[in-house]
Amino acid sequence: MCGLVAAASQRDVVPSLIEGLKRLEYRGYDSAGVAVVNENGLKMARALGNVSHLSERLATQRVAGHTGIGHTRWATHGEPSVVNAHPHISSDEIALVHNGIVENFETLREELVAEGYEFRSETDTEVVAHLVHACSKRCDTLLDAVYQAAQRLDGTYAIAVVSKFHPDKIIATRRGSPLLIGVADKENYLASDIAAILPLTPYYITLEEGDVAEVGADSVNIVDANGDVVVREMRQSRQSALELNKGLYEHYMQKEIFEQNVVLERTLVPALKDGMVNEDVLGENARDILSDIEHVHIVACGTSYHAGMVASYTLESLCGVSCKVELASEYRYRRAVVNPNTLFVTLSQSGETADTLAALRFAKRSLYRGTLAICNVPESSLVRESDMVFMTQAGPEIGVASTKAFTTQLMNLSLLAILLARYRGLSRRREQGLVDVLRRAPEQVQRAYSLDNEIREVAEHLAESQYTLFLGRGQMYPIAKEGALKLKEISYIYSEAYAAGELKHGPLALVDEQVPVVALAPFNPLLAKVKSNLAEVRARGGKLLVFADKDSGFRNSSRETVLTLPKSGGLISPIVYTVPLQLLAYYTALYRGTNVDQPRNLAKSVTVE
Ligand code: F6R
Repeated sequence: MCGLVAAASQRDVVPSLIEGLKRLEYRGYDSAGVAVVNENGLKMARALGNVSHLSERLATQRVAGHTGIGHTRWATHGEPSVVNAHPHISSDEIALVHNGIVENFETLREELVAEGYEFRSETDTEVVAHLVHACSKRCDTLLDAVYQAAQRLDGTYAIAVVSKFHPDKIIATRRGSPLLIGVADKENYLASDIAAILPLTPYYITLEEGDVAEVGADSVNIVDANGDVVVREMRQSRQSALELNKGLYEHYMQKEIFEQNVVLERTLVPALKDGMVNEDVLGENARDILSDIEHVHIVACGTSYHAGMVASYTLESLCGVSCKVELASEYRYRRAVVNPNTLFVTLSQSGETADTLAALRFAKRSLYRGTLAICNVPESSLVRESDMVFMTQAGPEIGVASTKAFTTQLMNLSLLAILLARYRGLSRRREQGLVDVLRRAPEQVQRAYSLDNEIREVAEHLAESQYTLFLGRGQMYPIAKEGALKLKEISYIYSEAYAAGELKHGPLALVDEQVPVVALAPFNPLLAKVKSNLAEVRARGGKLLVFADKDSGFRNSSRETVLTLPKSGGLISPIVYTVPLQLLAYYTALYRGTNVDQPRNLAKSVTVE
């Protein structure tokens, strides 16, 4: 999604803006731009495509100043083009960048046209630039103008504004979209994501909903949604700037797949004490809330939703609590029945996904016993707004396709299931046994990496297919869905996943000699059923790619490739079986020459609905 960065300093800020925008590139974007204020007024440069195109433009067009704003755009209103790229300028006085969507932009646009403003772009953002300008005519300060303009906006926004009449200040506000202030020595920043400014400063202040901030090189003043002056707490980010690099890997996705053994360990170890799950990692009030829980309602999007689906099997079978898993975009617009003692769980890598965040806010107005976020970004809105938080320790995930965030979510969900089971009578011995199974996950994942070469070979053939089917049963069904999602999003091969038992209820019609069918078949009580389903595929001449373990009893043949994974216990087999599917998607995308880390049309952090 769009990325925003701004800086006020005693030196030229353009290099910092460009570096910040480059660090936001992973979020997905189609154009980029910067604007600065200096003694000659406003200067702006914009370019279509990536930030390096903007840098090339800046090499020929002199843009420098001590105060500036920058933006990477992911088109919502109006096609990707230079004219639609941010910043947007009003009356040669005000430049503005915006993340989010202004829902009432058409009404405001009509009003502003009637006032004489001329529009150059198709964006909702240009409306905000003119609106701030119109308000500035009636207000004493730019902060007041931005505050007044924000009162007129419906929808979500994070905005940063500079004016040629206030060359030392940036005014910023947010509602629904993330925005933080980075605090450094004699320079301050604004960013939609700490990643943009982490190498410059680890210190940040999060703006609350409706806050308006005035940021100078050595000053930060904030008023809240009521217009009252407030002091917000400064925090230090726990993320490391070093982890934002690709290191020796060719792609972020590749790096992130291959660090899963490490981040799984890093997620698991702090959550254990004396061989048991340490409930304190979920916060002080965890025991109080969790010991009452009889139902769990999990809400998430995309890959995180698949993690929730996996967990529903464990939560019901191990803990005997009922579990409902739902897409956040569906949940937020319906009236859900909330049983007494229900725990509301959100899953999110970014903690800023608009639908998941809206779902949490909606849930907080309902009668849930408590809310828990399983999230990877400590600075995120989801973390701040939930009653309990269980952080995944995956580190920054830069590749758009989620990998290590997913497997660490699975780890935390298993730990949560063990904890809930404890409150419902799980013996100490059994708990220690389950924890021992979880401890094997990093090593089992490492063993799964040894399939790397074999997967690369099969990916070469898969890359030629038009359509692929993924099959699994039980917990392997959501893993099949996750495998299909990974493949389609980065290789653009249409892929669909079905619970294997559903095959003959429709999808079997798709199977012929051309269609590769990827099957997940670990040795478990459902194996015999999976085998019957695969026999139906074989009978129609389908090509099978089977991921199984040595006890599953599959053999390679001319139409069947079997890749053997380590034998893993029930709790961790979803984690172990995910790894080869990520590699399969990765290598298939490489053979097809697609952009692995930034697939077309997609964004990392989906901060608009
Ligand atoms: C797919 C993917 C997305 C995200 C989804 C939710 O690889 O990454 O489907 O899982 O956009 O994002 P988070 O987890 O940040 O809420």
